[in-house]
Amino acid sequence: MLGPVRERDGLVVELGCGSGLLTRDLVDAGHRVIATDASPAMLDLARGYATGAREIRELVLPDDPIPQADAIVSIGHVLSYLPDSEAIDRALVAIAGALRPGCLLAIGLCDLKSAEAMPGFPINARVADGWAITERSTPSPDRFVREMAVFTHNEDVSWRRDDERHVNVLIDTARVRPFLAEHGVRATIGDSFGGGVELLRGPHTIIGHKDP
Ligand SMILES: C[S@@+](CC[C@H](N)C(=O)[O-])C[C@H]1O[C@@H](n2cnc3c(N)ncnc32)[C@H](O)[C@@H]1O
Repeated sequence: MLGPVRERDGLVVELGCGSGLLTRDLVDAGHRVIATDASPAMLDLARGYATGAREIRELVLPDDPIPQADAIVSIGHVLSYLPDSEAIDRALVAIAGALRPGCLLAIGLCDLKSAEAMPGFPINARVADGWAITERSTPSPDRFVREMAVFTHNEDVSWRRDDERHVNVLIDTARVRPFLAEHGVRATIGDSFGGGVELLRGPHTIIGHKDP
């Protein structure tokens, strides 16, 4: 998808880069990248992991200005961490406005069906190597909450435990297509960014282009 952007040395803006996992892949693939996130701590991790990005900087959705871009990408359903669907709409409008004519949008977003598409649903807890989801809940049809505990070995026999609480807003992704069209972006809603990799069951990828 991003090949044509790289060929013309276009600028890729990443939203919610977190620790820089995708950023590093983009840089390694030869892209010019501005990676952004709301969390200064995440940005510090990204700076250590994705050296070679043109810039790694704080950008808090939905209201911080987004740089003009030849592609805007975001994985890990970053927009779903906003407080409500109205904030998600504001972020989508800002994204559409920052895309140069003809340019690419590829982002993930949680659908109303996302909670039940999570591995193990409807069981509330899930244990993996070094982390556990201690509880997940849908306190309302448009909210998905995950309480997580992350365990790491200390140098002695003890463990360190960190707790995280992830609250995601779920929206009817079917309405994103007409909404983006109003703002000059023709998008399709799917369940994969391509390459034969399906991420979760249910719609959650938004891929489109700004009108020329
Ligand atoms: C699940 S993580 C995904 C991180 C990364 N994209 C990945 O896939 O590894 C969600 C990220 O969204 C960021 N985030 C949450 N709210 C945000 C906001 N309002 N504006 C920008 N980033 C935000 C968090 O700091 C976090 O790094």
